[in-house]
Amino acid sequence: GSATTYEAEVSPALCTGTIDSNWSGYSGTGFCNGNNTVGAYAQFTVNASAAGTATLRVRFANGVATARPASLIVNGSTAQAPSFEGTGAWTTWVTKTLTVTLNAGGNTIRFNPTTASGLPNIDYLDV
Ligand code: GCU
Repeated sequence: GSATTYEAEVSPALCTGTIDSNWSGYSGTGFCNGNNTVGAYAQFTVNASAAGTATLRVRFANGVATARPASLIVNGSTAQAPSFEGTGAWTTWVTKTLTVTLNAGGNTIRFNPTTASGLPNIDYLDV
């Protein structure tokens, strides 16, 4: 089916940092600028119509050259370890596709940075 977009700045999403709007090209009214520290997360609560495999598309920008690694935590369990590559500029937003297993109904999806660089800026999650 078609994806639902969950904006990082829209409740019940959580951002350990600030919702900013200073770098153009984001969707909605802003993006999550997580604190530059381990564990300063962006979290989404998403709905799945059925249990099983789901495709996530996370839109982000990373204006530095060094990739920013994170844990992808689904319903409290680390599912994988995506790394958010440099996109060339904070205004250059790209989408990373990740495949996870979801429960039917509500699911929490958290990106938890694993280095002191923190996360890239996170715009939204499509599920
Ligand atoms: C800069 C940039 C922020 C970004 C931050 C970072 O301060 O303006 O949008 O989040 O770098 O390195 O995470």
